[in-house]
Amino acid sequence: MTEVKKIGILTGGGDCPGLNAVIRAVVYQATGYGWEVLGVRYGWKGMLNADAAPLTRHDVEEILPRGGTILKTSRTNPFKVEGGPQKVIDNAKKMGIDCLVAVGGEDTLGVANKLTKMGLNCVGVPKTIDNDLGATDYTFGYQTAVQIATDAMDRLHTTARSHDRVIVCEIMGRHAGWMATDAGTAASAHWIFIPEVKGSLNDCCDMIKKRYQRGDRYAIIAVSEGAEFSDFNVAEASKETDAFGHVKLGGVAKTLAKEIEKRTGCETREVVLGHTQRGGSPLAYDRILGTRLGRKAAEMIQCGQFAMMASLRGERVEPVPIEEAVKELKTVPQTYFQMASTFFG
Ligand code: F6P
Repeated sequence: MTEVKKIGILTGGGDCPGLNAVIRAVVYQATGYGWEVLGVRYGWKGMLNADAAPLTRHDVEEILPRGGTILKTSRTNPFKVEGGPQKVIDNAKKMGIDCLVAVGGEDTLGVANKLTKMGLNCVGVPKTIDNDLGATDYTFGYQTAVQIATDAMDRLHTTARSHDRVIVCEIMGRHAGWMATDAGTAASAHWIFIPEVKGSLNDCCDMIKKRYQRGDRYAIIAVSEGAEFSDFNVAEASKETDAFGHVKLGGVAKTLAKEIEKRTGCETREVVLGHTQRGGSPLAYDRILGTRLGRKAAEMIQCGQFAMMASLRGERVEPVPIEEAVKELKTVPQTYFQMASTFFG
């Protein structure tokens, strides 16, 4: 078994509330074992550039309520860089890193998964506001993002009602509609559109007209940035992709608002929550989940459980193979969405 003396930690992909909770927990647990911890800056980019500095308890003791990541992040994919994977492995050796904690979503952990097969010891921690990672009940950051979207829609209710308006609220989540479904339900949106279930814009417009006819002269429509429709085509806002091949989303609310106004005659506005959902202080839930996952990651290293990810399963935090987590996206099941749609109208 590898004798561990020094570990590295990096945060990759989109930031989210709770990353600092994980970093703090890893540092506390690892230094408790007597190990050194290196904070790698800018995700996998930092491993390509050997950009890292030691992290002590003193460095992390006050970061728990802070949003973002003190280590910074990037969407760098070493497998898209000539000789990148070997460079990461060589740099890990040079820096004396016995195991690397990769905190990220499907992209960051996908890289960790491939690198473990090339001989680099890695453990994973599941992060993303999208909640679309497999093999874990929840990712940290998700609950805070849902709360932000819920608060925003609560506010939209009062202004929409005052003006007799429809407001379309665009919610992040790429190809998974978890956030739109949960925040839409929590904020009693009158309709929700997500990528997994192609909803009908006609039905939504009929619902809006009915509301106005019966005197409820406003409506809140929650839409996932990657939503698809059974009877309406939204032209892709952009063809621009990141290093992992993801199309840059955003803009569906504007197109939808225009179309709803045209079809219903009701004055319609759009709001794009965008990166607001990733910013600010984590809820207590995400601080605790991040802390539990980070602590577990260090514990897994101590037990030699490499190529594994700390995962939330019911009440327990336990190791699962990273491979299992990145196998396929965890999307919203039809039955879950049916529950939410009971309250449309
Ligand atoms: O994966 C997290 C996420 O916030 C998605 O919901 C969103 O589509 C994407 O990142 C935005 O990425 P960027 O910060 O690169 O604009």
